[in-house]
This record gives sequence, structure tokens and C-alpha cells, in this order.
Amino acid sequence: MKIFIDTASLNEICEANDLGILDGVTTNPSLMAKEGIKGLDNIYAHYLKICETVDGDISAEVIATDYDGMMREARILAGIHNNIVVKIPLIPAGIKAIHSLTTEGIRTNCTLNFSAGQAILAAKAGATYISPFVGRIDDINWDGVALIEQISRIYAIQDFDTEVLAASIRNPMHIVQCAEAGADVVTCPLSTIMGLFKHPLTDIGLERFLADYHKSQA
Ligand code: G3P
Repeated sequence: MKIFIDTASLNEICEANDLGILDGVTTNPSLMAKEGIKGLDNIYAHYLKICETVDGDISAEVIATDYDGMMREARILAGIHNNIVVKIPLIPAGIKAIHSLTTEGIRTNCTLNFSAGQAILAAKAGATYISPFVGRIDDINWDGVALIEQISRIYAIQDFDTEVLAASIRNPMHIVQCAEAGADVVTCPLSTIMGLFKHPLTDIGLERFLADYHKSQA
């Protein structure tokens, strides 16, 4: 399973990348807005900085919601760097754009997925990734991990090439559960990735090792 970080913060990306376990980055318009970058030239320059920081797939999302606008933006985004994967919302114009972009060899991440039916459309259109939003499904008292399991099962049965990129990850257990459910990728905030390290017995054990060592050298 690949681990992506879900942020547009270069500092957070560098911190995760320095661990040596990072495979890529996903952004979205809300994450980009948090960085306060104004103007398309500056936004595209920021995507390039991310691509130059992490050697992996970098998802950059279109803003347009019409087919022609999506196609125009997607070609620009894809031209920034080979590692750019264009994020397209799962709406009719988006599925049409994903199909067209696939024929042009431009890779896509179909985002805002909340059902298996939607995920079938994305795979049929040739999306590189499908992004089911696990956390937002849990937030309304449905089972986000169950959707990952269902999509993974359908994709395997139907031999679809689209990769399941579990998104909207809220906690370390989501990462473990999505790995068990067959996700190809999880994309997570830095805090959730760092949360994987946490176990009290690790801390207690290390403290005891060091105490015993120092006692033996006294
Ligand atoms: O970037 C897509 C997804 O990961 C957003 O998640 O935390 O806004 O529900 P979240």
C-alpha cells in the first residue's frame, strides 16, 4: 500500500518525506486555500515545488466544473510536471473529461467519491485513481471503510485498473483498516501519519532499555 500525504504545506510534505515512507501527495482547493497562494502562476509554481520535493504522484485539482474548462485546466496542470495527476470531481462532466484525458495519456484522480456505483463509472472512464472519502462517510454515521472493501472487491472481480486511493483519513486506525480492506493508497494528514508511531509500550520499552544500559555503565 502506498502512503500519500494530504496537504499543500511544503513544511508538512518535507517532514513526512524525510521519514522515507512517503509515496506521493494529494491536494484539493481547500488545502491550497489554507496556504494563501494567490494567482494561477503562483498556484502552478507551488505545484511544481511539491513535484520537486516528492518523487511520486502529486494530485492537483481542477476548479472548473464544465467539460471544456476541466479539459483546459487539466492540460495545463499535466504540463507542470510528469508526476502531476489531475484531480477531477465525480460529476458527469468530470467522468467525460476523465475519459478524454485518458485517451490523451493524462493521468487522473477521480475525487469526491462516496459510493460503489460512482466508483464503477470512474473505472469505466479510465481514472488512474478513485478517491472514496472515508472520513466524511463516517462523519454522517455510515461506514467509510466498508466502501473501500466494496470498491476493492468490485475492481478485483471486474479486473479494473483504477487504483483505490482512500482519502479523508481521520485517524491511524483508518490507515490500518483501509490496508486490510484492500486500498492501494491512503492519503492522510501529517498528524495521522505520525499517529502510526504512537504506542505506550514502545515508549516504556525504550525508556527501560536506556535505563538498564546507563545503570550498567555507571
Ligand atoms: O483531499 C481529499 C480528502 O482527503 C479530503 O479529506 O479531511 O477534507 O474530509 P477531508
